[in-house]
Amino acid sequence: MKKETMSGQTNTRNNTTDNHPMQESLLDKLFNDLLKDMYWAEKHLLQALPLMQKAATTNELHDAFEDHLLQTQKHVIRLERVFKLLGKPAETKKCEAMAGLTEEAKSLMRETKEGTMTRDVALIVAAQKVEHYEIATYGSLVQLARTMDCDEVATILEETLWEEEDADHHLTHIAETYVNPLSDQEDESTAKKEAREPAYEPAEEVNA
Ligand SMILES: [Fe+2]
Repeated sequence: MKKETMSGQTNTRNNTTDNHPMQESLLDKLFNDLLKDMYWAEKHLLQALPLMQKAATTNELHDAFEDHLLQTQKHVIRLERVFKLLGKPAETKKCEAMAGLTEEAKSLMRETKEGTMTRDVALIVAAQKVEHYEIATYGSLVQLARTMDCDEVATILEETLWEEEDADHHLTHIAETYVNPLSDQEDESTAKKEAREPAYEPAEEVNA
């Protein structure tokens, strides 16, 4: 892969300006499309995470979602830096995977009872599916950026990758230390309803 074709206006490895951009390669175009997809996904998460945060039963999960919301704002800004480094406009392209994952999260919220540990189990499952999607995508983007000799881009994306991995580990810790075991002891009669406002539209009837 020729690094010159990746740069367009900016050579991220040598930090020099190229006033005569070469024709974009097929891999350049794919990489840019993957960035647009992730840019849409991160922006979409900025809307979904507050709903998941509001729906959480435990303070620990509520706080974990708040932390990840703040991180996600940084992830959006980092992607904008990457677009700028590559001399591309920061544009979105709908990420069908993330749209599906957040729809699934909403379904799980409808299907679990507010104020229960089982609600938090479901939210953690949904959030970890999102995290694993992001980890897979950022992992691929980091490797592709290295292949194309765009080391500065790779370094920026790798920062986000590490934060996604940390967020995933934190969710595993919350699940394994008490949310999952407490949920295992929960039934209709023992579930305590806590005073949180519904975070989403009134539940549809769920068929058993
Ligand atoms: Fe993210």
